[in-house]
Amino acid sequence: MRFLSKCTFAVIFLLSLATSPAVSQVQPSTTAANEALHQGIMGCYGSTCHSRQEATGVVVRQNEILSWQDQTSTTGAHLRAYKILLSERSSAITQRLNLGKPEEEPSCLGCHSDNVAENLRGPKFQVDDGIGCEACHGGSVNWLTQHYDVGASHTKNVSLGLTPLEDAGSRADVCLSCHLGSADNNQFVTHRMMAAGHPRISFELDLFTSLQSHHDEDVDYFERKVVQPGVRIWAIGQAKAMKRNLALFQTPTLNRDGVFPELVFFDCLACHREISDDPDWRPEVRSNPGRPEAPGVVKFNDANMIMLLATAKQIAPDLAPKLDAEIKAFHASLAGGGRDASEVSQSLEGLAEDLMKVVTETDFSKNQTLGILEVVVEDALTRRYTDYVAAEQAIMAVDTLLSSMVAANQVSFAQTSGMRNEINKAYDAVESPNEYDQDQLTTALKVLRGRLQELRSNAG
Ligand code: HEC
Ligand code: HEC
Ligand code: HEC
Ligand code: HEC
Repeated sequence: MRFLSKCTFAVIFLLSLATSPAVSQVQPSTTAANEALHQGIMGCYGSTCHSRQEATGVVVRQNEILSWQDQTSTTGAHLRAYKILLSERSSAITQRLNLGKPEEEPSCLGCHSDNVAENLRGPKFQVDDGIGCEACHGGSVNWLTQHYDVGASHTKNVSLGLTPLEDAGSRADVCLSCHLGSADNNQFVTHRMMAAGHPRISFELDLFTSLQSHHDEDVDYFERKVVQPGVRIWAIGQAKAMKRNLALFQTPTLNRDGVFPELVFFDCLACHREISDDPDWRPEVRSNPGRPEAPGVVKFNDANMIMLLATAKQIAPDLAPKLDAEIKAFHASLAGGGRDASEVSQSLEGLAEDLMKVVTETDFSKNQTLGILEVVVEDALTRRYTDYVAAEQAIMAVDTLLSSMVAANQVSFAQTSGMRNEINKAYDAVESPNEYDQDQLTTALKVLRGRLQELRSNAG
């Protein structure tokens, strides 16, 4: 979690604009990005294109390649993603798994490069370019020359196959394919890979967008694109992650490992805990109202479910009780009681869809966002964050939703900066998986709850 503490406050869009002009929402074209030829990073080079030394472009910065290459910043993460496969750490992982060289191993290249099929690679495409521009923006063969032509428009570019990354749903699909996994293209980190040394993957759409941002949401951006509030991006990210995780868990090629289920879907700390024969030893397990299964049952990682439920309670009060009941039914089904797990899972996926519709239609007033945050914080007080994965999502939510309110001019930067200290204490509590401290998290969030209440009573 090294990157988190220097977070979004520094990246906040200080030039934020409260309202956007009416621009029609752009829908992804039918030609999916990964069905078009990828021409490689060379296609984007050129000082009149994206490889300026300074961000001096009139419409876009034009130094995007430089930020993508910058190894001193998180904006350089996607070039580094390939380079890391050449490291000893990566070889050690593949050796333990009896696999070939990481840089040739499809089960690594799936997420550490733009690993499109051979027939989709243009003459200049090189897999060792890493996660190039087209891995996110889409294969460029049909839009590359057109997108800087006179008369180009975002709508037209999208119709030619550019991915509309300003749209939270499209963006979530792109990022989550690597930052959570997908059922094809060798994009799945198994528990075996983790046990061989692969780090855990943590992700939150809005925060991670800021961390890799190489664009400005300035006046002309608002003219070209629909800019969604950060809290909506956060909520869509949560819904998409929950849906994707459940779908992966229903995929027969991924959800088993021998006689066991694939362990990566469960709370890591469900198993990775101390044991003792000491008669005075007190088990670490604590009751959790969201999943009241007995001690000793392996619990599903429900981090995204908790965040989504907090959202529903605030903006979709009619959906919330149903979501709450189905989440509990899902946990119960995995523990062998009640309904069939795949039936509950499908019902949950449907609820995530319903909720996304509401999220898309919600403008997120200051009080609505504060309301979500209050539920997230209350959940800590009722000891809902048994596992640090959920705890991490809770603190990222506080961080990112506060930034979103600042960006929307609902609260001032000064009003939130005083909370930085407590936010950092909460981050510290989830810094290391082995030392996750639920009490420290709860104490920090308790203080934050008071601050949130002050924000509610202050005029924005
Ligand atoms: C589902 C996509 C996915 C697959 C498949 C995958 N990785 Fe990763 N890997 C990631 C992500 C995402 C991160 C960053 C984790 C984070 O910090 O949240 C990462 C991080 C790493 C890191 C640590 C990088 C750093 O800078 O600290 C190494 C090393 C690594 N992966 C090697 C591998 C190897 C070797 C394989 C194949 C056995 C592999 N990965 C397969 C997505 C994947
Ligand atoms: C990890 C995914 C990812 C990669 C890799 C990536 N981008 Fe982006 N890029 C985004 C996202 C997300 C945005 C912001 C949403 C938007 O407006 O498209 C963005 C925005 C931009 C913008 C501003 C668009 C505007 O309308 O103002 C440009 C230009 C751009 N990227 C160029 C590049 C280039 C060139 C590369 C390769 C060096 C690259 N990007 C690599 C995800 C990515
Ligand atoms: C093709 C797979 C892929 C896609 C698509 C992708 N990422 Fe990544 N991303 C990775 C991998 C792998 C890493 C780890 C790189 C490393 O640390 O070595 C990473 C790292 C990052 C980091 C740095 C995190 C850190 O620990 O420093 C951020 C931020 C990030 N990605 C954001 C995004 C966002 C936002 C999107 C979608 C717009 C996205 N990524 C799309 C594979 C991907
Ligand atoms: C159902 C129980 C269970 C769950 C859940 C589980 N693990 Fe494991 N884990 C194990 C077992 C058992 C081993 C040891 C297997 C062996 O002997 O190699 C292990 C081994 C490991 C190791 C290697 C430890 C070592 O020193 O050899 C790591 C790292 C690891 N798991 C990480 C994770 C992460 C991260 C998660 C959550 C995403 C997780 N595990 C979830 C049971 C579990």
